[in-house]
Amino acid sequence: MRSRTLGTTGPTVSALGLGCMGMSALYGQADRTESIATIHAALEAGVTLLDTGDFYGMGHNELLIGEALREAGPGARDDAVISVKFGALRDAAGGWSGYDGRPAAVKNFLAYSLQRLGTDHVDVYRLSRLDPEVPIEETVGAIAEEVQAGRVRHIGLSEVGAETIRRAAATAPVCDLQIEYSLFSRGIEKEILPACRELGIGVTAYGVLSRGLLSGHWTRDRELGAGDFRGASPRFSGENLERNLDLVDALRKVAEQKGVTVAQAAIAWVLSRGEDVVPLVGARRRDRLAEALGALDVTLDPADLAAIEQAVPADAVAGERYPAALMAHMDSERG
Ligand SMILES: NC(=O)c1ccc[n+]([C@@H]2O[C@H](COP(=O)([O-])OP(=O)(O)OC[C@H]3O[C@@H](n4cnc5c(N)ncnc54)[C@H](OP(=O)(O)O)[C@@H]3O)[C@@H](O)[C@H]2O)c1
Repeated sequence: MRSRTLGTTGPTVSALGLGCMGMSALYGQADRTESIATIHAALEAGVTLLDTGDFYGMGHNELLIGEALREAGPGARDDAVISVKFGALRDAAGGWSGYDGRPAAVKNFLAYSLQRLGTDHVDVYRLSRLDPEVPIEETVGAIAEEVQAGRVRHIGLSEVGAETIRRAAATAPVCDLQIEYSLFSRGIEKEILPACRELGIGVTAYGVLSRGLLSGHWTRDRELGAGDFRGASPRFSGENLERNLDLVDALRKVAEQKGVTVAQAAIAWVLSRGEDVVPLVGARRRDRLAEALGALDVTLDPADLAAIEQAVPADAVAGERYPAALMAHMDSERG
């Protein structure tokens, strides 16, 4: 397994990380046994970075990862780099009621996560969305106290813009920013990625397959179950979906010529962005994971990259990446 280091101060991790969200939430029903088998297959393949959020299934995802690591045997926890997002406020009906980045909340959220994961530390801890009521210095300062106490190893950020990144990095060492980055979502290239590079902060890219839309497996008539985020996502709706799947078909032609799948081409493109970018893939089945891992063997030369970017031009995607109500929480979208 190839490895990459998260920023100048962060841990060295597998060049591809496993995002576990869909095993507990947001993408409809998941199979628990297959989810755990997928985590085990990832660990066996040398994947070390496991990403979760305490609000993915209200703790379900952390319990699942904790169980998978225990079952994987002695040493599995220490070999893994667990990245946890916190701060999202939920309700029992699955609703979202904002974000809490107060220092007391940081300590409270972390205590529950450690218990659910069955560990004494989190490797990378990050606020999932900026809390507009709490200066980022206070939230990062509270995580830094947990670093001092040994309960957190590194501080990360999620979906924040350049100014917030600078303020956070001036408070304490930040190892990475987790943010959406794919052929369909290139918004970070203008200001956010350069700021990260200037400050020695790595990027863990999520949505590299645009939540399945860019995987080559999405079909126009796919039915979505209740609670599936994609049912409300502008990119999966109506004419936008038609236009976006046309782009996927164009990418499919390039991928076929290269002898790879669409998903592998999309992941390899993100891997080609730089050694400081680590893609997370949201595989929740072993066959999907195996396909994603195949991207690590794909080398894209300048002609391949040009063909891919011609098939999917930088601003060609139709629709915002989140519904309007959720876009309002994105500090990263405020420019
Ligand atoms: N910081 C943030 O704000 C934030 C937001 C969202 C996610 N994340 C993190 O990033 C991770 C990845 O995000 P994501 O799940 O949206 O990204 P993704 O990898 O773009 O999408 C995952 C979806 O793609 C489908 N897929 C098809 N072929 C695949 C393949 N070969 N490998 C993997 N997936 C394939 C899966 O479908 P099927 O399961 O239907 O087969 C799954 O529904 C999450 O698990 C989470 O940990 C972070």
